[in-house]
Amino acid sequence: MHRIVHIVGARPNFMKAAPVIASLSARDGMQQMLVHTGQHYDQKMSDIFFQQLGLPQPDLNLEVGSGSHAVQTGQIMIRFEEVAQDVRPDLVLVYGDVNSTVAAALVCAKLNISVGHVEAGLRSFDRTMPEEINRLLTDQIADLLLTPSADGNENLIREGVAPEKIHLVGNVMIDTLVRLSPAALERWERGQVAERRDDAYALVTLHRPSNVDDEEMLQEIVQTLIAIGQRVPVIFPVHPRTRQRLSKLDAPGIERLNLIEPIGYLDFLALQHHASVVITDSGGIQEETTFLGVPCLTVRENTERPITVSLGTNTLVGRDMQRLRSEADRVLDGYVRPHELPPLWDGKASERIADIVVDYVR
Ligand code: UD1
Repeated sequence: MHRIVHIVGARPNFMKAAPVIASLSARDGMQQMLVHTGQHYDQKMSDIFFQQLGLPQPDLNLEVGSGSHAVQTGQIMIRFEEVAQDVRPDLVLVYGDVNSTVAAALVCAKLNISVGHVEAGLRSFDRTMPEEINRLLTDQIADLLLTPSADGNENLIREGVAPEKIHLVGNVMIDTLVRLSPAALERWERGQVAERRDDAYALVTLHRPSNVDDEEMLQEIVQTLIAIGQRVPVIFPVHPRTRQRLSKLDAPGIERLNLIEPIGYLDFLALQHHASVVITDSGGIQEETTFLGVPCLTVRENTERPITVSLGTNTLVGRDMQRLRSEADRVLDGYVRPHELPPLWDGKASERIADIVVDYVR
């Protein structure tokens, strides 16, 4: 038996790990263990995803909870080190770019336990983003680098990573989207999606510290959304970090936005499918909208997912709220830029990962 440990912690990890776990469970000789660090712990940020994605219950929850970067990363390291020493896995798989990713990778590197990074090689080239630090460090110490797109391979080679460690596998998040789209659309048809609208609407998510922790920026974004809301309803499921910031913000007119609690995977996917425009600062949503062919306006200066701009439907509007307004108008007037599907975003990335993992541990 080969022991594989998967590390998940924050919301965007769950939809990436689910298809890899499923693909590996169909292979002989693989004993899998799922460790949740507890970085995200609310029912709406974690449990609902386990249910909807069909993820097995974690074998272990490290229950680290929230904290500063050092506290969160340090706690995960301290608690996971004991587990790793105990279990002595043949391979630990880490996902994405959150604090849980880098913390677990660092523990393994020091214990001489092999680490595979799913979603390796992405770079925003913006080191003020905590995720960029997590990406750079994780990729330097990982033994298997599983990239979603060719730009990832190029970045890794440039940083001196040995080519034989790098494997272009495609986008696992899209595996989950492909699998669960029918269920999401069925919920929509049955009227089970709470925010369902028959007419045009804008779907919004924001949670990056650079947008929501900066009061002036947050006020400008909110006022721009209210202006867009004069054309179409704005549906805005609010991340807990953003909820805290908004509660302290005196924003006239904010009641005109439909600020709702974070929603589950299926409802959010259905809302993306039918949205006229998506406005976001999330990484994963830039990819999902590209796959769905839905226009996406990203409130960031840069992206670690440039393929969503070069091939997909993503436009970076930066911090320029005039630009957000005018791009939203253009899209609501019916403009959709030409787009195509990035290579290997075909719903089969996790099968390719399973092939590589099986090969690696044998
Ligand atoms: C984390 C990731 C980010 C990812 C995002 C997705 C890092 C550095 N950041 O950011 O890359 O895009 O998850 O959501 O790993 N909170 C709750 N309930 C929860 C979790 C968090 O209320 O279940 C609140 C806490 O007050 C916490 C704050 O949200 O302090 C931020 O949570 P944290 O995990 O530190 O970072 P995110 O902003 O969620």
